[in-house]
Order: sequence, then C-alpha cells, then structure tokens
Amino acid sequence: MTETHTGRSLKILVLYATTGGNTALVAEAIAGNLRRGGHGDTTVQRVEQTTVGDIEACEVLVWGSPTYGHGQLDPRAIAFVQKVVRGIDLRGKPCAVFGLGDPKYDRDHNIESAVILTDFVEGHGGVSLIPPLKINRTPVPVLQTLVADWCAGLLEKLAGDDIQTLT
Ligand SMILES: Cc1cc2nc3c(=O)[nH]c(=O)nc-3n(C[C@H](O)[C@H](O)[C@H](O)COP(=O)(O)O)c2cc1C
Repeated sequence: MTETHTGRSLKILVLYATTGGNTALVAEAIAGNLRRGGHGDTTVQRVEQTTVGDIEACEVLVWGSPTYGHGQLDPRAIAFVQKVVRGIDLRGKPCAVFGLGDPKYDRDHNIESAVILTDFVEGHGGVSLIPPLKINRTPVPVLQTLVADWCAGLLEKLAGDDIQTLT
C-alpha cells in the first residue's frame, strides 16, 4: 500500500451513518489512512451531527452508509438525505463513497447503499473520484487490506493534477 502523497493537504470530511458500529469502524480507518497519506485536516462525522455548512466547508467528501431494509440506506442516512441535504449543491465537489452490507439479508440488494450514495452525490453535481468501496459482513478482517487499498487509490486521485482544478 502506498502512503505517499505529493499534492497539497486537503480538508476532507468522512461522513457516515451507522446502526451497529461497523460503518464507524470503516470511517475511522479511512480517516486514519487519509491523515497518514498527508491530509491531516480529515474529520470524521456522523450524519446526525452534520450540517449543510459542514459539507460545503470541506474540499473532499467521503460518505458511507450500511444497507438496511432491503436495499436502503441506514435510517439515519435516510433522514439526513430527506431533511438536511435534500437540495444541496455539490457541483464540482470531489466525492468518494463507501457502502456496507451482507448478502444474507437480501442478495438482490447487496450493498445497495453504495449505489444510492453514488446516485445522490452525482445527482447533486458531485464528482466521484473512484468507484465505491464495498464491504460485505464484518469489516474488521479487511481494514488493513481492502479498505487500505481503496484509500491508497483515493490518495492517488487526491494527489493528481485534476484535483487541483476541482478544489
Ligand atoms: C435488518 C437488517 C437489514 C439489512 N439489509 C441489508 C440489505 O438489504 N442489503 C445488504 O447488503 N445488507 C443488509 N444488511 C447488513 C448490514 O448492512 C451490515 O450488517 C452492516 O455491516 C451494518 O453496518 P452498521 O454496523 O454500521 O450498522 C442488513 C442488516 C440488518 C440487521
């Protein structure tokens, strides 16, 4: 895994919702990788504590949710989308999305949260930097592998020339 970073340090918000705590673990792990990769101003925040202003203030939005209720977002994320950020303008904002799930609950809607969040950010003008991180079952065994590798890919994008034109 690479942790080298050549671009400037960016203000990153890692936003998440969780019911059982798995998504919080992933959010913290992502933030740790991004900080170690040169982005010291990376904040982790729950949707319940987040305002439109928080999202507007960040240069990069990393947003995650587990999947619940047959292919829906976490209930807190649903409330956040419907009540807080419904009309948000993300035009040009670099974004990355992560979703959690478990095929034992609904094989037909596995990790649908990643699709829903991607549709939301892109539908509001956000720019997806990389394909979503998708995690099935408990994330603990993949924090050092899948999650770290995804972060390395994201760090590469954040160091790229095109990010300078977006932020
Ligand atoms: C009642 C219930 C419904 C779920 N529905 C789905 C689903 O439709 N699709 C899916 O991929 N995972 C589903 N899951 C799995 C969760 O997304 C997964 O356990 C996730 O890690 C939970 O994250 P959290 O601990 O951050 O809340 C469901 C879990 C529960 C308990």
